[in-house]
Amino acid sequence: MLKNKNIILGVCGSIAAYKSAFLVRLLVKAGANVKVILTPDGANFITPLTLATLSKNPVYTQYFEEETGVWSNHVELGLWADLIIIAPISANTLAKLSTGICDNLLTAVYLSAKCKVYVAPAMDLDMWKHESTQQNIQRITGFGNTVIAPGSGELASGLVGEGRMAEPEEIVRFLENAIKKSMPLFGKKAMVTAGPTYEAIDPVRFIGNHSSGKMGFAIADELVRLGADVTLVAGPTVNNGVESYKRIDVVSAEEMFKACSAIFETTDITVMCAAVADYRPKFVASQKIKKQDSDFVLELEKTTDILAALGMRKKGNQILVGFALETNDEENYAKGKLEKKNLDLIVLNSLNDKGAGFKSDTNKITIFNKALQKTVFEMKSKTEVAKDICKAILKILK
Ligand code: C5P
Repeated sequence: MLKNKNIILGVCGSIAAYKSAFLVRLLVKAGANVKVILTPDGANFITPLTLATLSKNPVYTQYFEEETGVWSNHVELGLWADLIIIAPISANTLAKLSTGICDNLLTAVYLSAKCKVYVAPAMDLDMWKHESTQQNIQRITGFGNTVIAPGSGELASGLVGEGRMAEPEEIVRFLENAIKKSMPLFGKKAMVTAGPTYEAIDPVRFIGNHSSGKMGFAIADELVRLGADVTLVAGPTVNNGVESYKRIDVVSAEEMFKACSAIFETTDITVMCAAVADYRPKFVASQKIKKQDSDFVLELEKTTDILAALGMRKKGNQILVGFALETNDEENYAKGKLEKKNLDLIVLNSLNDKGAGFKSDTNKITIFNKALQKTVFEMKSKTEVAKDICKAILKILK
C-alpha cells in the first residue's frame, strides 16, 4: 500500500518524537519515499541526523537554512506529498492547524498540501482532555484530516491515562488500511483468466496456442492496484514478474471452466482474457500415439465456451468482460459476441493491427460497451491497455 508513496512526516516537540525514528524505518521498509520536517521544538527531542540517516533524505527544519543559504519551498514540498503524517503532533501544532497559524515550515507545508493529512497526537493527560484540545481535534477533523487516536498508559509526566502516541506499527497499519479503503475497487472481488489452454492428444502431445498471458497479468495487476481482491485463473504460462494476486493454475479448457465456475458467483468483476481452445481431441490416447505410414486424422469435439456459460449465470451488478481476437469483419463479430454472451464490455484486438495480439508487449484495442458505443485506443504497452480496460470497468460501476 505504501510502496512508492511520497510521505511527509512532521515531528513536533514531544517526548514521543523518539518513536518517529521507528516510524521512519517502517515507512521506508514499506517502500515509501519519506521526507521529514521537524518543528523547532521537535528538533530538541530528536536530531535531524538520526531522521536524515533513516529516511535517506535531508531533514527540513526551517524555511531558510542559514549555513547553506538554501530555501525550503513549502509549496513544492506540500505538492510532492501523497500523504502527510504528523507524529507526534503536539497540542501547540494542533492548535495551529485548527486556526491556520503558519509560523514554521511544517504548518506552511500543511496549508500548501492538497493530500490527505493524518495526525497522531501525543501529550499529557490533562492537555489532551482540555476542552480547547478536544475542540481543535473536532475542527481539524472537520477540515478532512484524520486523527490516529492516542492510547492509554504511563505518560512521561508520571501520570497514567490517555495521551500516548499510537505505536509506529499501529500508525503504519492505520495508514495502509486507510489507503486500501480509499481505493475505487476496495471490497470488490475480481477474476481474470489468462494464457492458453492445452488440450491433450496423448501423454506427450497437445493442441495449444501462442498466448503469452501478458495481457491477463497486466489486467490482474491493475485491478489489484485499484484495490480489488483478484484471482487469476491461468493456463500454462510463466509470469516473470512479481505476482500481486492469487493464482490458480489450470491446463485444459475443462479445468479452466471448473475453476472459473467455482468462484464466479462471488466475483463482482470478471475479465476473460485467456485464449481458450475451442476444440479438444474427442479421445485422449493413454499411450503415446505411434507414427504410422498412413495419414492421421484427429477427431475434435467442442470445449465449453466459458465466457458464454458465465454470461448465462450472470446476476445483478456482476460485470463480465470478454475479448475478441479477430482477423476480418472485426467490429461486427465483436458486437455479435457482446450480445450473444451477455457481456458488459468486449475488448477487440485485430490481428490486422501491427503490435496487437499474442506475445508482444503492446496491444491496440477497441472497446464496445453494452450500448454498443465504441472507443478506439492507440497502440500502447499492455500495462497501459490494462489501465484503459479498468477505467471502462470503473465507468460502469459509477
Ligand atoms: O468466441 P471467441 O472464442 O472469439 O470469444 C473470445 C472470448 O471468449 C475471450 O474472452 C475468451 O477468453 C473467451 N472464451 C472462453 N471459452 C472458450 C472460448 C473463448 O471463455 N471456450
